[in-house]
Amino acid sequence: MVLLRVYHVKKVWLTVPLFLMIIYLEGETRNQQIIPSINQSKNLTFSAADMVIEESERRLPSCIIIGVRKGGTRALLEMLSLHPQIRVAQQEVHFFDNETNYGQGYPWYLNQFPALGPDQICVEKSPSYFVTLKVPERIKEMNPRMKLILIVRDPVTRLISDFTQITHNRIDKGLQIRDFDSTMVREDGSLALDTYGVDTGVYSTHLLNWFKHFPREQVYIANGDKLIRTPWQEMNKIENFLNLQHSISRSQFFFNTTKGFHCLVVDGQTRCLAKSKGRPHVNVSKDTIVKLRRFYKPHNYRFYGLVGKDFGWPEE
Ligand code: A3P
Repeated sequence: MVLLRVYHVKKVWLTVPLFLMIIYLEGETRNQQIIPSINQSKNLTFSAADMVIEESERRLPSCIIIGVRKGGTRALLEMLSLHPQIRVAQQEVHFFDNETNYGQGYPWYLNQFPALGPDQICVEKSPSYFVTLKVPERIKEMNPRMKLILIVRDPVTRLISDFTQITHNRIDKGLQIRDFDSTMVREDGSLALDTYGVDTGVYSTHLLNWFKHFPREQVYIANGDKLIRTPWQEMNKIENFLNLQHSISRSQFFFNTTKGFHCLVVDGQTRCLAKSKGRPHVNVSKDTIVKLRRFYKPHNYRFYGLVGKDFGWPEE
């Protein structure tokens, strides 16, 4: 990979033609995996030697959290941002799965990230990437060495969490809500498998699509349940995966008994995730849970086989 760098010259406006040149070169040499970076520091400082110095700049991400929706993606991103070498896109970017965004090209994507220091990388999360067919190919086209993180949890819990979120969204909009059991189970007792969200938990099918484009070692599969219980341990494994020095430690987490989750300790202050993360789930009958667990069981085994790890999700 060739990393294009724009060096500061005294007038900022001189970077504009350089940027246009980068876009041109990037298009021309996409197959040679050129990753554009754009200088955007406003505080110009110059080395005494040659009056040119590397400044903070934007670079495309080297790691993307691809999903899964309701797996703990926000917590993971927030926790990663504790690392001094990691900066994150605050909002979900949805570049590769949104035609309008994707149509704006890499300069638009680049613009979604904060400026980085020389030893920093940036990370974004867009959970719907995981289930969107064309996304792996698009990411590979941009950077075939991209590191990908997928965070998963028991698909039945994930589905209930997803349904809970949709229920709250509908309440906020003053719309009618449905209950989980009658949505998921038809009158004849069969599962309504075409209900939104059921397919998301069939992790093996989606992951196979990623493995067509990326080797197994480029995809880190994080355990959402462990992230809840011992987040510092999951963080240490991800630091290894990203080849970063160990920095995130247990002392940066504080278990909030009211919330029932770990909050982050940042600059001596405790910061918990928004109330939409980790809220009580909608009521679900035991019967529906059993049906869903039976449905997901073979898919879960296929997934364990694909990733080489048994997550031990409940089967009955
Ligand atoms: P629930 O709200 O169902 O408990 P996502 O960010 O992908 O939407 O995932 C949301 C889930 O993150 C939450 O689902 C919660 O279980 C999980 N989570 C993990 N660690 C958390 C933390 N420290 N604080 C809040 N939620 C956390």
